[in-house]
Amino acid sequence: MKVINVNASKNYDVIIGKDILSSLGEKCVSLFGKSRAVIVTDTNVAVHWLEKAKTSLENSGIQTLDFVFSAGEESKSKETLFELIEFAAENKLTRSDFLVALGGGVTGDMTGLAASLFLRGIPFVQVPTTLLAAVDSSVGGKTAVNLTAGKNLMGAFYQPSLVLCDINTLSTLPETEFANGMAEVIKYGVIFDKELFDKVQSGDVKSDMENIIARCVELKRDVVAKDEFDTGDRQLLNFGHTMAHSIEKISNFEIAHGNAVAIGMVIAAKASYALGWSKEDCTAAIIEANKNNNLPTACDFAPNDLADVALSDKKRTGGTINFVVPEIMGNCILKKIPVETLYQIAEYQTPSP
Ligand code: NAD
Ligand code: GLY
Repeated sequence: MKVINVNASKNYDVIIGKDILSSLGEKCVSLFGKSRAVIVTDTNVAVHWLEKAKTSLENSGIQTLDFVFSAGEESKSKETLFELIEFAAENKLTRSDFLVALGGGVTGDMTGLAASLFLRGIPFVQVPTTLLAAVDSSVGGKTAVNLTAGKNLMGAFYQPSLVLCDINTLSTLPETEFANGMAEVIKYGVIFDKELFDKVQSGDVKSDMENIIARCVELKRDVVAKDEFDTGDRQLLNFGHTMAHSIEKISNFEIAHGNAVAIGMVIAAKASYALGWSKEDCTAAIIEANKNNNLPTACDFAPNDLADVALSDKKRTGGTINFVVPEIMGNCILKKIPVETLYQIAEYQTPSP
């Protein structure tokens, strides 16, 4: 078991280990006393893990209520958010009570935002059950729901009081979702840690998940401690994301976020080297890592369409953006570029082989 302390506007532990869901109640009692909790989870996760989480909390003397919503990104909406907040109000939760986000990034983002809003803020606990949530979304306090105009447009920085990551929960995760999480793991390697990248490049990762997740969390902890509110170094975590957002949108969200990030990293690495911003060409290594981890390396969208969408995302022309450049493997930098350069960057997407 590993415990990583995050020192941001709230100080909290991220506990990572095998079969630790049964200790959720004990950890929560030590933080909140014998209060009440709403366990928020989606329909897929509820089948596998709700009972175990509930039993642990109740055995420790915490009364629980369940809020189960339909699995999927469509539920990361203001409607589900308000339903959850109304549910908390109807059940007369107080500031001594708390929410438990049991699930992936959709559950964590939506529950965190509800916790930040209800009674002007009640505590919440993240129990990530996807690899993506374990290595990224459960840590660092970015919470949000989507609006019609775009993803994550309504949100808040609001840190959890605890993150408890039971690696056993990943045993029921579909392989495609595991691969989506691996895209974020590869991303951490390229941005911060060549050793981590080398370790995961072969795709032989399953026997070492505790160490891999812990390393990603340490890297995220460090960047969040430096830049909790995303005005500087935290933007490095957007490596591959500029084109990824375009790919997701053009595919009408048929291409999942992790798959889109995998392709976006290839485009960013290739363009950065070709345009003379990188000291080393990281493209081939990223392509190999993607392939070995069941991730795509290219898409068939027209470069101009990718750039158009990326630019409309920024809602402006004539400005600049911070583009994440892999200077060498394991070290990325932010490069301020004119938004129009996105057209040049998009040219480096190669059609699927
Ligand atoms: P998700 O929560 O929708 O989970 C993916 C799928 O896996 C869902 O169908 C879910 O029901 C299922 N699932 C989850 N855990 C399972 C388990 N253990 N067994 C079986 N099925 C399981 O999506 P995600 O990929 O975890 O997260 C994506 C979301 O995270 C996006 O909305 C994205 O914007 C957000 N995100 C947030 C941050 C942040 O810093 N807050 C970072 C990255 C991504
Ligand atoms: N997932 C990006 C961030 O937390 O900043």
